[in-house]
Amino acid sequence: MTQRSSGETSDDGSSEEAPRGFSRRAFFAGAVSSAAAGAAAGVVATGLSGAAASGTGPAAVAAADEVYPFYGAHQAGIATPPQDHLVFMVFDVTTTSASELQVMLAKWSAAIAQYTQGLAVGSVEPDRAQAVPGDTGEAAGMGANQLTVTVGFAPSMFDGRFGWAKYKPAALKDLPAFASDALTPAFTGGDICVQACASDPQVAYHAIRNLARMARTTATTRWTVQGFGRASRGTGQTTPRNLMGFKDGTRNISSDDDFAQQVWVGADSDQSWMTGGSYLVARKIHMLIETWDSDGIGDQHAVFGRTKAEGAPLSGTGEFDTPDFAVKAADGTPVIPVNAHVALAAHENNNGTKILRRGYNFTDGIDSVGRLDAGLMFISYQKDPAQFSQLQSKLGANDRLNEYIRHVGSGVFAVPPGLSAAGDYFGKALFA
Ligand code: HEM
Repeated sequence: MTQRSSGETSDDGSSEEAPRGFSRRAFFAGAVSSAAAGAAAGVVATGLSGAAASGTGPAAVAAADEVYPFYGAHQAGIATPPQDHLVFMVFDVTTTSASELQVMLAKWSAAIAQYTQGLAVGSVEPDRAQAVPGDTGEAAGMGANQLTVTVGFAPSMFDGRFGWAKYKPAALKDLPAFASDALTPAFTGGDICVQACASDPQVAYHAIRNLARMARTTATTRWTVQGFGRASRGTGQTTPRNLMGFKDGTRNISSDDDFAQQVWVGADSDQSWMTGGSYLVARKIHMLIETWDSDGIGDQHAVFGRTKAEGAPLSGTGEFDTPDFAVKAADGTPVIPVNAHVALAAHENNNGTKILRRGYNFTDGIDSVGRLDAGLMFISYQKDPAQFSQLQSKLGANDRLNEYIRHVGSGVFAVPPGLSAAGDYFGKALFA
C-alpha cells in the first residue's frame, strides 16, 4: 500500500486528511500488531467532510444534533433508550487472514467513533477529480442523530479461522431449535452483526453502508433488516406499539440492578474479554398481519394477556399494574390465560429470568401473493443467551401468539464491552 499525500483518497473510501481533534497517531499507537498497523495506516484515516461540523451545532441539542458517547464501559445501543430507527446487518467474514480481520475491525472502530459524533470518514468531495470520495455523502449535514453502532461476534468467529477458538465463551453457542421455528437461511447465521440505531433512518443507513464499503475485501453482507419504529420501551421513554397495535416494552428491564444481574456479563465470566459485554439474540419475526387483523379484540387481549388500548394486564386496569397470574375469572380459569404471551414470558413464571428487549417494527413491503410482509425485528440483550432460550422454549411450544407469527430469522452474538479510548478496537483482546 503506497502512502498518499494529504487529502488524497483511495478507492476504498479512506483519506489521509486528519480530522480536528482526532489523532491518527494516537489511534494506532499500540492498537494493532505492527503488520496490521502498517496495513491499516495506509487505508484508515478519518477526515472531516461537509457533515463534520453538523454534529456540533447550536447549544440547544435537538435529536438531530444529539451525540451519544461512543467510548465507555459498555457499548452504546444496549442500555441506550431505543432510537426510532434501526439498520441491522450481519456480515460473513471472507478473509482467512487474522491480520486482515484485525485491520477491518480497527478501521470499523475508528469509523464508528467518527460517525457517532456526526463526523465522516474521508472527504465527501475530495480536491482531486480522480479521487473517489472517502465518504458516500448521504448523511452530510445531518448531524449525529443519536447514532449508536453496536458490534457482535457470532459463534462461527471462534471456529479456528482466526486463532480465536481459545477465547470462545462457554455461553456462546448456536441457539437450539425451538418448536414452531420457521427459520430461513436468508435471515439466519453469519459472523459479525452490526446494529445501527439513530433518530434518522438515513444516518443509520449511512453508517452501515460505509462500514460495508470499508469491509469489502474482507467481509460480505449476509442479511439485513431495516426497522422503522422502535417496539420497546427504554428508561424514561413512553411505551411504543408493535405492528399488532399493542404497547410493547411495558415491563422491560430498566433498573441498574436488572442490568447488572441480567444484561451485563460480569467479572465471573470464563472469558475476561467479555466482562462488561452482553449477548445479542436477533430473531426476525414475521407477523401474519391479515390473520391478526381479522381476529376479535377479546382473543387479541387473551393472546397477550393485556388490553390493547391501555396495555393493562387483564388482572388490572393500568398499564403499569403488576400482572397477577393467580386471579381467576368466575368460571375458575385464570384471567390472564396460562398460554398468554406475558404469562409464559414473565419473570415471575421463569425463576426470575429477564431479558432486555430492544426490538423494531419492520416491513419488507408485500410478499409474492400480495400479503403485507412485516413484523418484529426482535433483539434482546442478556448476560447469557440461555436466558432467551429458556423463554423461547416455552413461547415456541405454547404461546397463543404463535398462530399469528413466524420466526424466520435468527442469530446470536457475543457483544464485547465498550472501547476505552481511541486506539482500542472491537476484538483487540482476541488477537493477543
Ligand atoms: C412478534 C413477536 C412478539 C410480539 C408481538 C411481542 C409482544 C409483546 C407484548 C405486547 C408484551 C407485553 C408488554 C410488555 O411488557 O412489553 C410482551 C412482553 C414480553 N415479551 Fe414479547 N413479543 C414478541 C416476541 C417475544 C419473544 C421472542 C420473547 C422472548 C423469547 C419475548 C419476551 C417477552 C417478555 C420477557 C415480556 C415481558 C413479560 C412480562 O414480564 O410481563 N417476546 N411482548
